Amino acid sequence: MGKLFISEHPLIQHKIAMLRDKNTNTKEFKELISEITMLLTYEATRDLPTSESEVETPVATAKCVNITKDIVAVPILRAGLGMVDGVHNLLPASKVGHIGLYRDPDTLTPVEYYCKVPENVSDARVFLLDPMLATGKTAEAAIEFLKERGAKDITMLCILAAPDGVKTVQKAFEDVDIYAAAYDTALNDKGYIVPGLGDAGDRMFGTK
Ligand code: URA
Repeated sequence: MGKLFISEHPLIQHKIAMLRDKNTNTKEFKELISEITMLLTYEATRDLPTSESEVETPVATAKCVNITKDIVAVPILRAGLGMVDGVHNLLPASKVGHIGLYRDPDTLTPVEYYCKVPENVSDARVFLLDPMLATGKTAEAAIEFLKERGAKDITMLCILAAPDGVKTVQKAFEDVDIYAAAYDTALNDKGYIVPGLGDAGDRMFGTK
């Protein structure tokens, strides 16, 4: 089963408290999503493969360590877009793919309307970005699409995770790790995480 990492870091918890607050405005919300993603990325990159190198400092030769794996960030449209900067700030060489999914109103199954991923997706550590892992159906479909395109090393980064979402992803894929900044225990009848933070996309883009 893939790993489930829930942050207990005070910095992340403090920022999550501000993010949940209904009085936090769009600008602050976007900044917080980006900062929390950056902190999660730090955690989710601990096990990246490295190689040793030698660097000449002004004083002597230093034995150094370099990351050897490519990174691809793939936001699920639209709310995942707000997390891209957080990854990029730490990993400026990372490439970015995009996945757009909508839910078919009759079958309720996710349908892909846009998917473009970089060519190196099969060799890279792929960070799938979606702030809200609620039912997990969208994440499951996105991971399937990424695997169909050759991705082999996928980690999901989310801001809030709910038990249903975690179960759905873990049941479907035993090789996908999940990193979440916080874990809420319930979903309401509209599929919103409770207490959650509301509609992440609307709050990020000011659409409501
Ligand atoms: N998507 C959101 O934006 N919020 C939720 O609570 C669940 C899914």
